[in-house]
Amino acid sequence: MKLTEEEKIIAVETTQQILAGVDRQNRGQLIPVLQKVQEKLGYVPQVTMEKVANHFAVPAVDVYGVITFYNQFRLTPPGKNQVKICMGTACHMRGAHIIQEAWERRLNITVGETTRDREYSLERVACVGCCTMAPVVVINEEVHGKMTPTRVDGLLFAHQLDKQKAKEGNADNEQ
Ligand code: FES
Repeated sequence: MKLTEEEKIIAVETTQQILAGVDRQNRGQLIPVLQKVQEKLGYVPQVTMEKVANHFAVPAVDVYGVITFYNQFRLTPPGKNQVKICMGTACHMRGAHIIQEAWERRLNITVGETTRDREYSLERVACVGCCTMAPVVVINEEVHGKMTPTRVDGLLFAHQLDKQKAKEGNADNEQ
């Protein structure tokens, strides 16, 4: 996914701020640094990987390896709507993987990615505490229980309708 110029600048500045004062010899700080960048930006951009690799004098491929090893890290900016599929035990037993496949198919992305229009991103999370409603999906902060592939279509459709209405509302206000 291509970043905008603004995103690139923010990524560089944020990484530099976080790296400032971090001992170059202390490679134990590599993961905490990446975590802080992710906390601030919501993902770890490529430019961060390069800067972190430089800072600790390790090959960039090693930093990439760390990021892909731990699935807490995202490589792309999160979408405007973050779809989180619960993979806790209850949801897993009730077919969370089928729900994951349904979202991946509909959005044409895989877990950890963001759609090209930046509208949706997909991720897997641990139990969100609503096990009686399994399988569960959280969209932004809203919990949706008893998910089925058909409900995935319904939710997407409802979201698109809301978006359209909001657009029309804005257009009316501008008139
Ligand atoms: S396992 Fe999914 S909400 Fe608990």
